[in-house]
Amino acid sequence: MKQIKITLIAFFLLIGTIAKADEGMWLPFLLGRNYEDMKKHGLRLTQEELYSINQSSIKDAIVSFGGFCTGEIISKQGLILTNHHCGYEAIAEASTKENNYLDNGFWAKNNAEEIPVPGLHATFIVRIEDVSEIILNALSVDMTEDERNAKIRELSKELQAKATEGTNYSASVSSFYEGNEFYLFVKEKFTDIRFVGTPPQSAGKFGGDTDNWMWPRHTADFSMFRIYANAENKPAPFSEENKPYVPKHALPISLKGVEKDDFAMILGFPGSTDRYLSSWGVEQAVTLEQPKRVDVRAKKLKIMKHFMDKDDAVRLNYSASYAQVANYWKYFIGQTEQVKNNDVIGKKQAIETQYRDYLKNVKMSFPVLGSMEKYYNSTNDIVNIKVYQSEFIYTVGANVTAFRYKFWADAIVAGQEDRAKMLAGRLGDITKDYFEGASTDIELDIIHHVLHMYLEDIPDAQLGPLAKKIKAKGMKGVHKYIQSIEKKSMFLNKEKFEAFNAEPSLKKLQKDPLFLLIMDINDAYTKATATDDLKVAKDNLQKANRYFIAGLRDMNPKKKYYPNANSTLRLTYGNVLPYNPKDAVSYDFVTTIDGVMQKEDPDNPEFVVHPKIKATWKNKDYGQYADKNGNLTVNFLSNNDITGGNSGSPVINGDGHLIGTAFDGNWEAMSGDIFFEQNIQRTISLDIRYTLWLVDKVFGASNLIEEMELVK
Ligand code: ARG
Repeated sequence: MKQIKITLIAFFLLIGTIAKADEGMWLPFLLGRNYEDMKKHGLRLTQEELYSINQSSIKDAIVSFGGFCTGEIISKQGLILTNHHCGYEAIAEASTKENNYLDNGFWAKNNAEEIPVPGLHATFIVRIEDVSEIILNALSVDMTEDERNAKIRELSKELQAKATEGTNYSASVSSFYEGNEFYLFVKEKFTDIRFVGTPPQSAGKFGGDTDNWMWPRHTADFSMFRIYANAENKPAPFSEENKPYVPKHALPISLKGVEKDDFAMILGFPGSTDRYLSSWGVEQAVTLEQPKRVDVRAKKLKIMKHFMDKDDAVRLNYSASYAQVANYWKYFIGQTEQVKNNDVIGKKQAIETQYRDYLKNVKMSFPVLGSMEKYYNSTNDIVNIKVYQSEFIYTVGANVTAFRYKFWADAIVAGQEDRAKMLAGRLGDITKDYFEGASTDIELDIIHHVLHMYLEDIPDAQLGPLAKKIKAKGMKGVHKYIQSIEKKSMFLNKEKFEAFNAEPSLKKLQKDPLFLLIMDINDAYTKATATDDLKVAKDNLQKANRYFIAGLRDMNPKKKYYPNANSTLRLTYGNVLPYNPKDAVSYDFVTTIDGVMQKEDPDNPEFVVHPKIKATWKNKDYGQYADKNGNLTVNFLSNNDITGGNSGSPVINGDGHLIGTAFDGNWEAMSGDIFFEQNIQRTISLDIRYTLWLVDKVFGASNLIEEMELVK
């Protein structure tokens, strides 16, 4: 009796750990490490069916969508399903006041109606190889970090060239576990991508910034595109002659729906996580860096919104940038809040304490934790200038446009005529593109207000000469400088720019007040961040990070460590699960269309329900897309481990069939990119049946349904 009891307890303990083994972004070519565990979770496929280089497998239905999102192939005619927020920019670009696809939706009735999206690509992974041995063998402990990095670059180049010889593929070697391992990715990139369909943004972005990053959710966050290939089914630039790509694998679509505890796996391209960040790093991020980013972003958003609300054309032109700024504005707010709530710093310190104990028994002369602490202590006072570099220069249209001309100016000064000519041509095109949708009001107002913040936040000792001069005159100085930008800068005046572009002149550029300001800010940044001391601290941090992970893996040999996300293909598996966000509160794992109607608010653009959706809901016309209660599921939860870049990823059941599209994470686990929260971290996905119901029943694009393989 006792015996049985103990086995039973052991059994339940085991179940407990199984249900929790959801953390981890695994490499699909190394799934041997996880395969048995995946089966325990409910996977019914062979390893070869997941990832194979000899036969078609699930990995052949996954694409990097534009390098910033994920897409999955859902028909034998190269149809891509991704998120609405991933297609957003393409949709907004294709939209005009007359053909307003962003607000009204769009459905191509046939291939001829599909809209080419210049600049967009879809990239498959052909194969992955572990090249760690080759690279590590060429490195030695007494190399400086610079020498080490140079050697890695050199070898990577050789490996990449060898892997793609005689093919149309490209390849890249990426570093894993902070430089402890290296894998090679061979890819096939398609560049003729066409826009096929989207619901109106009232559905695709339902809930807007209010619901973003939160559960319960009711968003139809999907859009569709198609890959085109040449007569040989190979990548080719856009051409009328191109045909829909015939994929190696298309995901069959399950209409069976989700039940609690169902197996769920997600393949995609997570962008970046910082799961091995030290307690000092977390501290700096949440006390200094992120609050500053939030401030600057809040200012930008307020200005954009003000002008977008006044003019529909401006609204369409700025919708995509607004959404991008807003998404991470809220992300940083949430991460800061949840790092505190989830005591992430305490958890990091606990790991560091274990590591210190471990060090007592190994030979290690390099101060690993000390270097981490030192780096963050010595960089606290350059956090702001770093934030402004990215939030003021790189992500403000006029400013980044002006900034790019630095490279042209450098080439002229260096006497590199050919390069200068090439750059002038390219920058001319980019800048013309920028002027197509730019609002002088928005750009100038942002420059004005953020410059103000910059002058307040950056200590005099770090300011450049021009900024100092402006600041010396106080508010008036800023105002006057902005006036001269408005009057004289070619980056806010299309005619002036065109005159410059017809005959680029260094003299003219060097008199442009916006260019001068951006250079002043950029030079100040370089001066503050490129000191010898910081270089040493940075190199030591890189080394410390590398040793730290190696140490953790050595310290817990049984634990399976996974590398941080780095935009390479990953797989995460787990189960469909609800969660309890706080004491006495529990959340269900599905939402239904009734919740959409409960949130409806015709006076709030974030919560408008399209009349066609409402009508079809009123008739309860759910057809084959209904759940077992006759209702319609909208979004669901699973405990998969994803992050930005995974957006648009397929959620796949134990039979390899598509059940949803991942699009977000939950608020209570916003610290998850730094520390995975076993009990409360959830992936939010769009149920495939809601997607198909909208495509088919509501918007009548049955031509698309016919391409798909539905499993009932
Ligand atoms: N938070 C989501 C992500 O980063 C994006 C959701 C887009 N929706 C929105 N309302 N902005 O993947």
